[in-house]
Amino acid sequence: MKTIDDLDVAGRRVLVRADFNVPLEDAGDGSRRITDDGRIRAALPTITSLRERGARVILAAHLGRPKGEAKPELSLAPVAQRLAELLGTPVALAGDVTGPSARAIVADMADGDVVLLENVRYDKREDSKDDAQRAELAAEFASLADLFVSDGFGVVHRKQASVSDVATLLPHAAGRLVLAEAQVFQKVLTDPDRPYAVVLGGSKVSDKLGVITNLLKSVDRLLIGGGMCFTFLAALGKNVGSSLLETDQIETVKGLIADAEQRGVDLVLPVDVVVAAAFSADAEHKVVTVDDIEDGWMGLDIGPNSRALFADTLADCRTVVWNGPMGVFEMAPYAEGTRAVAEAITQVDGLTVVGGGDSAAAVRLLGIPEDGFSHISTGGGASLEFLEGRTLPGIAVLED
Ligand code: 3PG
Repeated sequence: MKTIDDLDVAGRRVLVRADFNVPLEDAGDGSRRITDDGRIRAALPTITSLRERGARVILAAHLGRPKGEAKPELSLAPVAQRLAELLGTPVALAGDVTGPSARAIVADMADGDVVLLENVRYDKREDSKDDAQRAELAAEFASLADLFVSDGFGVVHRKQASVSDVATLLPHAAGRLVLAEAQVFQKVLTDPDRPYAVVLGGSKVSDKLGVITNLLKSVDRLLIGGGMCFTFLAALGKNVGSSLLETDQIETVKGLIADAEQRGVDLVLPVDVVVAAAFSADAEHKVVTVDDIEDGWMGLDIGPNSRALFADTLADCRTVVWNGPMGVFEMAPYAEGTRAVAEAITQVDGLTVVGGGDSAAAVRLLGIPEDGFSHISTGGGASLEFLEGRTLPGIAVLED
């Protein structure tokens, strides 16, 4: 995989695909405010390096899923503004993706300038299933630039015009972020220092079946928390009350439990949970063992003995990957499991990786110092698909 250091970028127009899919809230005055600019900051090393070497940087990114419609609430305007603040230079935003406005601002660029194209998903060809449609848009992107740099790790699992198709039309390289992320996940997948543990949480086991199946081939310990643990507990014959349960997955999960046992993988499940009478921060709640969950009660976090068990299991590990919260961390009474696991991981002496999405958001919301982890990924779905061992179109095209 070539890197940006292999490209001669001085005076050239470089199209950089970034992942600026950041969370936004209404600012109250009709505009929208970014609540977590982590993904914008993560793109700065590539942008800065290219600018310093005299490139003209054309950024392409998506925001949300506008499905081919130019929805004003999904404009990249707040991103252009934040980028300009972080870079200390103006960032012009095109009024379209590859149309007259994009062509005009690109034509006007000087060396070292940075411009941002409007949300690439305003154009329905971007994520079309039709190869010809995507190829057509990719050709329009390619006509705006001389070189292509892939730096949106969060989107490399998508076969989309600005992610994979355009790379086939221009000399290309991986940006600093994509390179760093790919190296970390490659190390974990192929050569982890041991003991190697993965902690999985989040609500649905069905979203993580592929990743669990693949991980069972390589991990020493697999710890399961979050809403998905209740399908495991049900598979072991326990009553889970009103907790999240995917009944249609119980048989599959029984198979995973048997596979773990056969492979000698230590499968660690909660021994106690915090149950509540309703899905609310004010609801009556208590700690019970996993054998004592009554009907009408729902598990919303792992309990204190589980926190201690999980921390103990991780203590001597040399590689830990964590993806998915242990409970409803956004509500204070159910945040302690996620906090305890995150803190335990910061104590590990070895490579520690936080999958993107909710786990990265939890680290920031709970105020856990980010430098306590070796790597916090910017990719939620992308990091899971990497761990699943799947071919990621946005990475594969760079390796060609
Ligand atoms: C993400 O937020 O995980 C990435 O930006 C990908 O977004 P998508 O799931 O809408 O493709």
